[in-house]
Amino acid sequence: MLNQKQAVLLERPAKTNDVLPSAPVKIQDTDTKTVGQVTVDKPIMTTRNVDVYYDDKQAIRNVSIDIAYNEVLSMIGPSGCGKSTFLRCLNRMNDTIESARVTGSIELEGHDIYDKKTDVVTLRARVGMVFQKPNPFPKSVYENVAYGPRIHGLARNQSELDEIVETSLRRAGLWDEVKDRLREPGTGLSGGQQQRLCIARCIAVNPDVILMDEPCSALDPIATARIEELIDELRQNYSIVIVTHSMQQAARVSQRTAYFHLGDLIEVGETSIIFTNPQHKLTEDYLTGRFG
Ligand SMILES: Nc1ncnc2c1ncn2[C@@H]1O[C@H](COP(=O)(O)OP(=O)(O)O)[C@@H](O)[C@H]1O
Ligand SMILES: [Mg+2]
Repeated sequence: MLNQKQAVLLERPAKTNDVLPSAPVKIQDTDTKTVGQVTVDKPIMTTRNVDVYYDDKQAIRNVSIDIAYNEVLSMIGPSGCGKSTFLRCLNRMNDTIESARVTGSIELEGHDIYDKKTDVVTLRARVGMVFQKPNPFPKSVYENVAYGPRIHGLARNQSELDEIVETSLRRAGLWDEVKDRLREPGTGLSGGQQQRLCIARCIAVNPDVILMDEPCSALDPIATARIEELIDELRQNYSIVIVTHSMQQAARVSQRTAYFHLGDLIEVGETSIIFTNPQHKLTEDYLTGRFG
């Protein structure tokens, strides 16, 4: 949690002379080596020396970072710095982009997710993804959630499937709003409800990690607040990596923050510290509105 002074700092509009407290000498903008602690004691995922190219254009340069159990890690940085590209590495969504090439090592509980033996469909169930624009299937609310468990064989009979659907919708904070309209189309729900439906769909196949790429940017402030509360609850059971362009959102929902700049991971640290006392000049410039 942020203390009052930190919270005030975040609320204040950025000014170019808004120097953060006790600004020591910052690491200069020409240095692109990651500052801060990239490792955690018990990681669920580790990434080491990850490079991503689209054809011969490099979009991610030598990124290493761990993801802990039961944490929310936020990834911030100016548009085009590679946040979505890096997020997509974590469940091999970049496989679907023909020009993309990923090198380095990415492990989920010690297993190389890029190993030839890795089943990508299973991987994407364990490392689920929620996108910017809610994208329910053109099917009923029930079917949106039941589809994954069915294809992964997670239910032995109809009542087990019903139970998975209900539990997933409850965990996504949507059950009470949809329990009487399970047979209606998922696309008929409000934007915020659709996004929670997508989260329920993701939860239904027992993920370990949930990736969220700007999950609130198509939502109004009330729906956004609802999703942010939900993210905090979900942390009890899952690890969450969230890309957000809202620094306030990163400050509200995450325990650790990673700042990206032009394909480099510049700084990683506890969210409250990154926002109040960044070590790197590039991070400070971004947070104070001088860049991006
Ligand atoms: N499918 C793609 N093909 C080619 N270049 C891409 C593709 N997706 C992203 N890029 C490029 O990679 C860089 C990082 O993009 P992206 O990961 O979308 O950044 P962010 O999510 O931080 O805005 C940008 O220069 C972008 O133009
Ligand atoms: Mg993006």
